[in-house]
Amino acid sequence: MPDSSEHVTADPDWWRQAVVYQVYPRSFADHDGDGIGDLRGVTSRVGYLTDLGVDAVWLSPFYPSALADGGYDVDDYRDVDPRLGTLEDFDAMVAALHDAGIKVMVDIVPNHTSDRHAWFTDALDMGPGSEARERYVFRDGRGPDGAEPPSDWQSKFGGPAWEQVPDGQWYLHLFAPEQPDLNWDNPQVHEEFRNILRFWGDRGVDGFRVDVAHGLAKDLSEPFAAAADLHDELALRGEHPLWDRDDVHDIYREWRRVFEEYDPPLAAVAEAWVHPTRRGRYADPEGLGQAFNFDLLQAPWSAADFREIIKRNLDDVQQTGTSSTWVLSNHDVVRHPTRYGLAGSGRAAAEAWLAAGGHPEQVDRRQGVRRARAATLLILALPGCSYLYQGEELGLHEVGDLPDEARTDPTWFRSGHTRKGRDGCRVPLPWTSQGPSYGFGTNGAHLPQPAWFGALSVEAQQGKEGSTLEMYRQALRLRRRLQGPEELTWEEQTADVVHFSRPDGWHCVTNLGATTADLPDGEVLLSSEPLDRHRLPPDTTVWLSAT
Ligand code: NOJ
Repeated sequence: MPDSSEHVTADPDWWRQAVVYQVYPRSFADHDGDGIGDLRGVTSRVGYLTDLGVDAVWLSPFYPSALADGGYDVDDYRDVDPRLGTLEDFDAMVAALHDAGIKVMVDIVPNHTSDRHAWFTDALDMGPGSEARERYVFRDGRGPDGAEPPSDWQSKFGGPAWEQVPDGQWYLHLFAPEQPDLNWDNPQVHEEFRNILRFWGDRGVDGFRVDVAHGLAKDLSEPFAAAADLHDELALRGEHPLWDRDDVHDIYREWRRVFEEYDPPLAAVAEAWVHPTRRGRYADPEGLGQAFNFDLLQAPWSAADFREIIKRNLDDVQQTGTSSTWVLSNHDVVRHPTRYGLAGSGRAAAEAWLAAGGHPEQVDRRQGVRRARAATLLILALPGCSYLYQGEELGLHEVGDLPDEARTDPTWFRSGHTRKGRDGCRVPLPWTSQGPSYGFGTNGAHLPQPAWFGALSVEAQQGKEGSTLEMYRQALRLRRRLQGPEELTWEEQTADVVHFSRPDGWHCVTNLGATTADLPDGEVLLSSEPLDRHRLPPDTTVWLSAT
């Protein structure tokens, strides 16, 4: 295994204000031409990532998987899906990224394995009462012959959360049936995951994104509560049997000890869809250290909402001493240029649009991209970490109208084809304006790319003044220079304007209103749209340095 660590900074705080670029490997770049992106594809694009100016990449799962849930159904946590490459390809990718000064985070999926994982096939083979079954959540069914599931709980993707196996027992799956939940009351599960963390730590990764971090600890004592009684209030008190229980943090304290075995310690960020008041626990320095803040990703285009979210999150991170995370898009939500192009503009409006067919003509694309660019410059000026999702630097829209037969998301299947799911933000990236799969690979793409992808490709935007790609590049370059201590000062602002400054007189002003706004004096460093004689047009952000 090559030692690639010498090229990257040993700063233990590298993650605090990093720009982390999420690679969804199957849709990033396809090196071997099988229509599925792969690790060599990532390696071949290290130059692109360097030019973009990101500090780290986070790779969504690349492990062997039947892809029942886009790779979040993991067959083997210590290997690479043969369609995506080999462990040697992984090492070469890490070495190339590290050589370029880019850190690497990998996705860890500890709430569930896949149903093809050796532990689960053992559990099926060994039968009820076996040690192998104790690693998962198996129960007898209800009713005289056990033909009813143990409870009426629903899975996140729709349908029952229990699946019956041939010997009559049922197992819990809070997501797809192909994703059996692990039993975190079992010490073997703890030990296994500590060793999985070490496996990747030893291979040189710098940190982890922890999937469903709020789901591992469960209170599965019986009788089970009815689904109708599982109120959010319970989660707020840490008393929900399934989500966000206080004892989940014991697991992360164990993990922290593993992280500290490395120099610098491994970093981690929790994916925990919990109430904002409970997020800080996941970001505890004795636990994972950082947690995703998904508030802006859900918010409508409103200055009041943005201000409130920024203030609250910056206050919250002070409590634990972590840094905040700003996210506008990821592989689970409608891309933000599309969200902002819809009336209502929040996540709920986007979900409704998608459910109604995801028709592109209902999206005001110009407005959406304009607001997306403004939102991006805003988050990049904030103290803390920014997470970018592949393709957002191209201003890529959601492909809402994928043909139904192309859809692969379990949400689509388990909702009886009523919820479209997340395929539309996972369509392979366009690298070239024309050609097979727009340069993604040589031989097609695993999800169909629409004709408008060509005009948004890297090739079409590269070197083009004012393009979204060039704006991201400029912004990341400047940010590197400007980003100082994690401090923010609120400046005088009107109702529709968000205005703050950072140390050394770096100002960020965003106009979320419908009319042009006044600007303070200052040298324009970067703006998301051309200014109107030193006035700020609607849906625009400017970075200024005070004179
Ligand atoms: C969160 C991941 O981001 C999502 O893609 C996945 O479906 C669920 N966790 C289940 O692993």
